[in-house]
Amino acid sequence: MTIIVTGGAGFIGSNFIFHMLKTYPEYRIICLDALTYAGNLSTLKDVMDNPNFRFVKASITDREAVYGLFEEEHPDVVVNFAAESHVDRSIENPSVFLETNILGTQVMMDACRKYGIKRYHQVSTDEVYGDLPLDRPDLFFTEETPIHTSSPYSASKASADLLVQAYHRTFGLPVTVSRCSNNYGPYHFPEKLIPLMIANALNDKPLPVYGKGENVRDWLYVEDHCKAIDLIIHKGTVGEVYNIGGHNEMKNIDIVRLICKELGKPESLITYVADRKGHDMRYAIDPTKIHNELGWLPETKFADGIKKTIKWYLDNRQWWEEIISGEYQSYYEKMYGNRS
Ligand code: NAD
Ligand code: DAU
Repeated sequence: MTIIVTGGAGFIGSNFIFHMLKTYPEYRIICLDALTYAGNLSTLKDVMDNPNFRFVKASITDREAVYGLFEEEHPDVVVNFAAESHVDRSIENPSVFLETNILGTQVMMDACRKYGIKRYHQVSTDEVYGDLPLDRPDLFFTEETPIHTSSPYSASKASADLLVQAYHRTFGLPVTVSRCSNNYGPYHFPEKLIPLMIANALNDKPLPVYGKGENVRDWLYVEDHCKAIDLIIHKGTVGEVYNIGGHNEMKNIDIVRLICKELGKPESLITYVADRKGHDMRYAIDPTKIHNELGWLPETKFADGIKKTIKWYLDNRQWWEEIISGEYQSYYEKMYGNRS
């Protein structure tokens, strides 16, 4: 079995590669990644010498490079993680989100059509459903919830998600789609809530909470997401969409307070800053379908996962310190410098 994993130098894609190489030592895994600001080759250093692993630096928007790779490798499965993934960046500059997330997905699927594939899997997101109100805790996103996006990021992911389903219906491409809630864990890029708060707290820097910090996200340990995708590509039904989430809703402010507590840092570091434009209030996944059809259940409880994650950031300071000392500094200044 040969699998192309796009975006495998990023947070979830790298964790997926580690999971697959460990679980299926006989599979050949090819990582196709453009190494944007979010991609880190150092993340993959432990698997670079594995004879069943190959890294290829190219963009999923580069049709010639993608077709060339298919001609060389004849993949059985493609798992498309590659994307611009940060909502705040999509508010600053939507263009690259449309190019990578929509047109890149099209190139990957065109290659699958041209050369043949057993399965194309699209890593979509729960953000395609928009948000839920805080005063209706009885409501959850199911696979039937209408698509209703808020940010340029989520609109681009929804476009890709729908395009994938269109390629299935129109061209018979054997696809599956997964829509997962917020992930956390090792190798999470420090522009996102949890790693940003851990890194800032460790450096005794202000912890910038948007608005009142009451927005709710449904957190899932990254390995549980990887195991769900593994199940879907092996046992999921072609043409189907699967929600992935572990019923672990938490307010942002409670996450930040917990990080302070775990690190022994004072809550006085918490600074309320201007809210995100169009900020989604609450995400909450109903994962009944993947549980009933594929037997998936999350294995890591948040209380354990957050401890493991914090320990990982303490043990791997070099990984994130290299990131935050580079180009990231001007990003941080631009996004947070005058944000009050
Ligand atoms: P990430 O930003 O950490 O990593 C993205 C990776 O894609 C990077 O390695 C980057 O170099 C690569 N990439 C970007 N543009 C590319 C291009 N044009 N060609 C090839 N590679 C390119 O993202 P992540 O958090 O790991 O998310 C991975 C996927 O999962 C995304 O599709 C995202 O929408 C989806 N998702 C993320 C979450 C989450 O909580 N992080 C939840 C649900 C779904
Ligand atoms: O739900 C899945 C999505 O989760 C994925 O599709 C996205 O790729 C991923 O980035 C994530 O999106 P969010 O916008 O939910 O994640 P982020 O970590 O950016 O923010 C989480 C919450 O924390 C959100 O309500 C905004 C808030 N926040 C974020 C940052 C970076 C802050 O209050 N302060 C911050 O500095």
